[in-house]
This record gives sequence, C-alpha cells and structure tokens, in this order.
Amino acid sequence: MKNFDIIKQELLESPKQWLITGVAGFIGSNLLETLLKLNQTVAGLDNFATGHQHNLDEVEGLVTKEQWANFTLHNGDIRNIEDCKNAALGADYILHQAALGSVPRSINDPATTNDVNISGHLNMLITARDEKVSGFVYAASSSTYGDHPALPKQEDNIGNPLSPYAVTKYVNELYANVFNRTYGLKSTGLRYFNVFGPRQDPDGAYAAVIPKWTASILKKETLFINGDGETSRDFCFVDNAVQANILAATNNESDDSQVFNVACNARTSLNELKDIIFSSLTKFDSTIPAIDTEYREFRAGDVRHSQADISKAEALIGYKPSHTIQEGIAVAMPWYLAKFA
Ligand SMILES: NC(=O)c1ccc[n+]([C@@H]2O[C@H](COP(=O)([O-])OP(=O)(O)OC[C@H]3O[C@@H](n4cnc5c(N)ncnc54)[C@H](O)[C@@H]3O)[C@@H](O)[C@H]2O)c1
Repeated sequence: MKNFDIIKQELLESPKQWLITGVAGFIGSNLLETLLKLNQTVAGLDNFATGHQHNLDEVEGLVTKEQWANFTLHNGDIRNIEDCKNAALGADYILHQAALGSVPRSINDPATTNDVNISGHLNMLITARDEKVSGFVYAASSSTYGDHPALPKQEDNIGNPLSPYAVTKYVNELYANVFNRTYGLKSTGLRYFNVFGPRQDPDGAYAAVIPKWTASILKKETLFINGDGETSRDFCFVDNAVQANILAATNNESDDSQVFNVACNARTSLNELKDIIFSSLTKFDSTIPAIDTEYREFRAGDVRHSQADISKAEALIGYKPSHTIQEGIAVAMPWYLAKFA
C-alpha cells in the first residue's frame, strides 16, 4: 500500500486532471488548494448556493500564478446534467462534494435537499460513468449511522436515518453501489464525521458547531450549547478529509464501490470541545474565559454520540489522519482570528 507522501510525489511527477464539485465550499476549496499545490489541473463546479467566491480568492492567494492558471471554474448546478458533463470533460478523477449540508436545513426544506443531494448525485454518477473516469469519490456522511447505537461506528452496521439529510446521504451510497453493479463504475463514498478547519463558513443558521462557536466567542457573545453538552462527535480536521479523497481517487487496488469512515477514532463531547476552543483562543485574548455559556434544548435529528472506526480506510487505502482535534484546532483558530480581526 502506497502512503500519502508517495502518492503526492507520483502526482507531482505525472499530473492528472480533476473535477471538484462544490469547489467554492469548505471542503471543496481545501481540496482545490492541495491539488493546485501538487501542480494538478483542476476544474471546479459550483452554483454558490452555500459556497463563496472569497474561498476561491483565498486559494488563489495561497498558490503560485502558474498553479492558479491550472484551475477552471464552471459556474453551474449539479442538478443540470449538461453542467456536470461540461465540467467533467477530460477528467481522470472526480471528487464530488457539492450538496446541501446540515440536518436542520433538511428538516426545514426536505424537498430542496432531496433534489440537490440525490438528483445532483445521480447526475454526477452518470457523468462519471460516461466520462469513464479512473476514480469517482463522493462525500457521504456519518449521519448514515442514524440510530444505530454501536460505538465506534463500523461501515457495515448502520441504523435508521434520523433526518431527511441522512436519507439523501444513504441514497447516495445505494446509487453508487448500483452503478458499480450495473455499469461497473468504481466509486468511493467517504463518510465524513464533523469536518472542521479553515474556510468553514461561520455565518448563517446552518453553520457547523466549531465555526459557529468560534465566531460567537470572538464576538464575545453568550455561547449556546444544545442539550447537556455530553453529546459527542469525532471531529475531523479538513486535511484528513483531503488526504482520504486523494488516496481513494488514486487507489487502483479494487474496482468496486466502497464506503469508508473518515475521522480520527476519537470522541469529544461538546463540553470538552468548548474547553479546547476556549483554551486555544485564550492564548490570543485573556478575556475569553469570562464569556457566558448557556445550555438549551437538544436539537432535533441529531445523533447522541459519534465515533469512527477508521480501520477499514487504514487497511484499504492507507488513510492515516495527520491531525488530531487539538492539532486541527491549533491551525483553524488563527484563521478565524484573522477573519474576525
Ligand atoms: N463539513 C462536514 O462536517 C461534513 C460532514 C459530512 C458530510 N459532508 C458533506 O461534504 C460535502 C462538502 O461539505 P462542506 O462542509 O464543504 O459544505 P459547503 O456548504 O461549504 O460546500 C458545499 C458546496 O456545494 C455547492 N453546491 C450546493 N448545491 C449545489 C448545486 N446544486 N450545484 C453545484 N454546487 C452546489 C455549494 O455552493 C458549496 O460550495 C457535502 O456533500 C456535505 O454533505 C460534510
């Protein structure tokens, strides 16, 4: 099994063509940054529903002019098959990240989440099949474990979905599997567990917990914790997710349809997360410990505990997380500080 350093070296020596859907989003723009730094040719597809031009501008500032010239943006919608096909022309690998995230968004508007996450995904599978790409990787989700109580989560043991969002992410896996059986399309679903890091959106009603709390702490607002604070998650720094995407796309040891957990096999409660963020930010601002915390109702559709067994990804694609939650927070907090300074 080749490790990530060897794969990166091979990509540098023999650059490939990639399509990233959702390229203006959080994970998509981090994938873009890494691939451009490896001198790859990248097309990006995004309709800017939740992504931002400023994420792309930031990546432009982090790579050389020559590397940036290897990027082509397609402003389009994954619900439109022509947009998908145009963006995928000539691609060796597709990293399909575009979707409407957030459990609460899907509870408020299940139809739009269904449309983007299922019809859009189906379009991307058709595109990958017709373009005969060497690797199709898509963003699956830990929400697929639903109400299954076992910890840590193993890929084969899933329960019932707890939200419309979770249904869409499970259907993505079912479709990928059927495209493998029916058309021979090789695919990998990455079940992300609470990914965090630079460029994750802190704004809006559907922001994820780390950017939302960080923004509110930096504005010196009361911090709201849903439930008793003992809800736990396997928080995964974005570099780990980027690594898993590149390893999965380039792995040619099997032709099947697989799903892998992507996180750290660690569990952090919301109360512990609060302490980690507070202590990281207090290094920059000694008044932060004085900020109030309030507990409120549990949020509908949330699973209580989550922790990934990552042994399958370790064994089959050589995944090895580069950052623990603490190491990831140490990278992410200065980014938020610069944003809010
Ligand atoms: N961030 C996490 O913790 C997490 C956890 C599990 C799964 N995921 C999945 O990972 C993927 C990326 O998530 P993210 O956190 O980067 O979210 P994000 O909202 O930052 O990025 C999603 C991107 O997709 C784009 N998009 C949405 N609808 C589109 C459409 N119809 N056509 C084209 N582009 C469209 C958005 O504009 C955005 O740029 C999503 O599929 C999400 O469901 C994320």
